[in-house]
Amino acid sequence: MIQAIKHRHSVRTFEKKDLSIEDQKTIRKIVSEVEKETGPFGHTVRLYFLLNKDAHNPEAKKVGMYGYVKHVPAFVTGSTKKSFEGLVDFGFIFEKLILELSKRGFGTLWLSGDFENEDLENFARKGDVVPVLAPVGYPAYKRSLRERFLRMKQEASDRKTFDQLFFDQSFDTPLTKENRSHRFYNVLELVQLAPSALNKQPWRILVKEDALHLYLDRTENLPKQPNDIEVVNMGIALRHMAIGLDDESYTYEIKRLDEAPRHASWEYIATIKIG
Ligand SMILES: Cc1cc2nc3c(=O)[nH]c(=O)nc-3n(C[C@H](O)[C@H](O)[C@H](O)COP(=O)(O)O)c2cc1C
Repeated sequence: MIQAIKHRHSVRTFEKKDLSIEDQKTIRKIVSEVEKETGPFGHTVRLYFLLNKDAHNPEAKKVGMYGYVKHVPAFVTGSTKKSFEGLVDFGFIFEKLILELSKRGFGTLWLSGDFENEDLENFARKGDVVPVLAPVGYPAYKRSLRERFLRMKQEASDRKTFDQLFFDQSFDTPLTKENRSHRFYNVLELVQLAPSALNKQPWRILVKEDALHLYLDRTENLPKQPNDIEVVNMGIALRHMAIGLDDESYTYEIKRLDEAPRHASWEYIATIKIG
């Protein structure tokens, strides 16, 4: 999984090729395995694999909030409870799905937007929402010009620096990348690499004693969306932390704690307490 985190990137240009029956089977298997997972707040998520009936239709309307995706043979998507905790759990579980697909060489992309007219809501449990739709296919050897332009505009490969994202013991002491001997350095490095809507990386982490406290910084606003995608981003960050902690054989619990330190402008999300 660590290697999948290090190598994954968004794919917006796919080979003009349908998925083989064998690969469709593999994807269905991954989807049903990941669907068994429960998020940190106890929700399950319904996941779906859908072949794209418009894969070869140049007139098909565009999906997602931004970016142009070409030759998409299939999608994975999912539905969750429309609540803060449902969306965190969705991000946590869906990122596992994305990483499992990347691990096997499939190209993927998180696409958020308004999918109300996309028939997807028909799959969802009553009261659930479909926050994202993710194209899946074989990555094209060469990115389209549009994709290259979008990546350049978003500085898609760039990430905020350690000292912008992570803090040690107090919000006044940023953690620097030079601090390689820090106990959670590897874990934090995996959070730094996580994907986020518009690459805003709104997660902030305070490490204090045996706990990693996660916060959401909404200063760089996202365009208005039907679901709170920033909260989905928080689930992604928690997944990356969990993968890092599992890799180093830590035992831990993810909880919301009344006594967690509060920041003046960032929203408190959850704490990972090392056991
Ligand atoms: C929750 C979420 C929603 C996203 N929505 C879109 C989208 O609507 N359109 C798009 O082109 N990319 C979308 N992305 C992809 C991000 O732009 C991308 O992850 C980010 O720029 C970092 O690039 P990388 O994935 O190649 O590391 C989304 C990513 C996440 C995590």
